[in-house]
Amino acid sequence: MKLLHVVGARPNFPKVAPVHRAAAATGLDQVIVHTGQHYDDEMSGRFFRELEIPAPDVNLGVGSASHAKQTARIIEAIEPVLTNETPDWVVVYGDVNSTMAAALVAAKLLIPVAHVEAGLRSGDRTMPEEINRIVTDRLAELLLIPSKDAGETLRGEGVPKEQIAFVGNVMIDSLFHALPVAQSTGAAKRLEIDEDTVLVTLHRPSNVDSTARLSAVVDALELIAAERRVLFPAHPRTRQRLNEAGVVLRRIELIPPLSYHEMVDAMQASGVAVTDSGGVQEETTALGIPCFTLRDNTERPITISEGTNTLVTDLGTLSELVRASRRPATAPRPDGWDGRAAERVVRALCQAQRGRLGVAQGHQFTNVS
Ligand code: UD1
Repeated sequence: MKLLHVVGARPNFPKVAPVHRAAAATGLDQVIVHTGQHYDDEMSGRFFRELEIPAPDVNLGVGSASHAKQTARIIEAIEPVLTNETPDWVVVYGDVNSTMAAALVAAKLLIPVAHVEAGLRSGDRTMPEEINRIVTDRLAELLLIPSKDAGETLRGEGVPKEQIAFVGNVMIDSLFHALPVAQSTGAAKRLEIDEDTVLVTLHRPSNVDSTARLSAVVDALELIAAERRVLFPAHPRTRQRLNEAGVVLRRIELIPPLSYHEMVDAMQASGVAVTDSGGVQEETTALGIPCFTLRDNTERPITISEGTNTLVTDLGTLSELVRASRRPATAPRPDGWDGRAAERVVRALCQAQRGRLGVAQGHQFTNVS
């Protein structure tokens, strides 16, 4: 069986790494296609090295552009690759433009699509990622879900249960794999991060695109920075928006984006995280670090119901929430957050492939364990 993995943006890389490793251990043929959605070494190359992902077999080099242009470039560039490679499965990850574009092309070429991290919904169609999630899940033949609530969502949308496999969270596989190495990098020590530190990551259009909102977010963070250290590794689009908007940071410490290992070490050493990232909501839950998410909704409700995450819809409450937050005595462990999700992904793919070949009539992919 031949898998063709499609990745493009930073949050894809910790997802493909454990799946590629588990598939390699099973002896499957694999090809990695990087769309080039993210291209800077600090957003892409060093993630491949740290996560030990083999260099991509193909890089489509699409780069940054408007959503329509970026998606169109991926669609156009990936078609001949899929036609030449003729994989048994195209495996796509998460909710970025590369995920949706690849799923669309594969589905039209009648190549089955497996979606890792299927079934997540914020219910907010102003988020570009929500559109990507909905389209990708409509097209995927195998929907690999990280949590049981995602299965309920998909069933509610009419997806047959035979196409849904609960595999758990592959991000947590990467996190557990990286923890010992991350600690040995000494990044937290170098950056002088301790429990007094509030670690911030923000890049979503809803927080950074409007100058009024960006200024209000910075004001709320400055209030916290009057009492304790606020460290802000900034995504390139955030830094660009801060410059364009002329927003000046006074006490907040802005630093370049961290590598994967540095970020893991920084999170586990920090007292609190403030974010709008999906991955950070999950990683802080698994590390037992209180997390405040500056969004009106989340596609990862399990990080609230079972984890350490809190949505902050009123910026005026942020500093008090941060002040009152405490680490839980033990880190939460939602079902399937056990470091073995990628093995279940590979098992589900093999089972689905047997089903496609007609070996197992009436096969069911649910509850692969
Ligand atoms: C993308 C994903 C988002 C994910 C985020 C993580 C979509 C719709 N969005 O958003 O879900 O959370 O990645 O990082 O796919 N840039 C660089 N260097 C790079 C990449 C980007 O400087 O290597 C700058 C460019 O100015 C670019 C901007 O960042 O225009 C935005 O990049 P883009 O990939 O379009 O979207 P993200 O905001 O990164």
